[in-house]
Amino acid sequence: FPATPLAGRHVLVTAGPTHEPIDPVRFIANHSSGKQGYAIAAACARLGAQVTLVSGPTALPCPAGVTRVPVQTAREMLAACGAALPADVAICTAAVGDWRVAEASAHKRKKKQGQAVSLALVENPDILATLSHAGPTRPGLVIGFAAETEALEDNARTKRARKGCDWLLANDVGADTSIFGGNHNRILFVSETRIEPWASMPKTDIAAKLAALIADHLSSSPR
Ligand code: C5P
Repeated sequence: FPATPLAGRHVLVTAGPTHEPIDPVRFIANHSSGKQGYAIAAACARLGAQVTLVSGPTALPCPAGVTRVPVQTAREMLAACGAALPADVAICTAAVGDWRVAEASAHKRKKKQGQAVSLALVENPDILATLSHAGPTRPGLVIGFAAETEALEDNARTKRARKGCDWLLANDVGADTSIFGGNHNRILFVSETRIEPWASMPKTDIAAKLAALIADHLSSSPR
């Protein structure tokens, strides 16, 4: 077996949270650490892939051999992904903010004593679904992640079909797990024809396992 089975392949990875501005000094974000996506980018690079890592703001260093494209918002992430195509594989691990502020203020919003404030939010683009339905520029293999708190298998199957991706890696983020920001993850792998629970393992091991599966899947298709 070659040590670099992904040589000649371009892998696009999204990772981290997005920051959606409210005004120049405030934003809406989430707790995503970016660890799983960065580990996947690193694992694919180790197998010889050219890797583009479109990343929201994180505290992590860029993995060796990976080209990082830093972004803030969901719309910037979508544009950076579009600009990175063509790709053989797209892996969407980013925790993209579902909403953005409809009209971010150009100036710092002032508080008025004792007055409640409300923000109008509009839906962000779904990057995974957009890449999955990208027609002739669709990456040959599109992979999504899903954090679920209940009915893991049903929700994962439904979500894979709805998003239009090939593989969905679902994880149970229910009460007793500490997946967000942690180093371990427990995956349910779902494809159109296969459902497979993976043992709980470090995010770096999940990354290595996924990179090996990708290499295996691509081994029969021409570069
Ligand atoms: O719908 P949900 O957020 O649970 O889907 C999770 C999957 O979809 C992840 O792979 C995530 O990266 C991707 N996603 C995306 N763009 C969004 C929302 C989710 O790429 N706006």
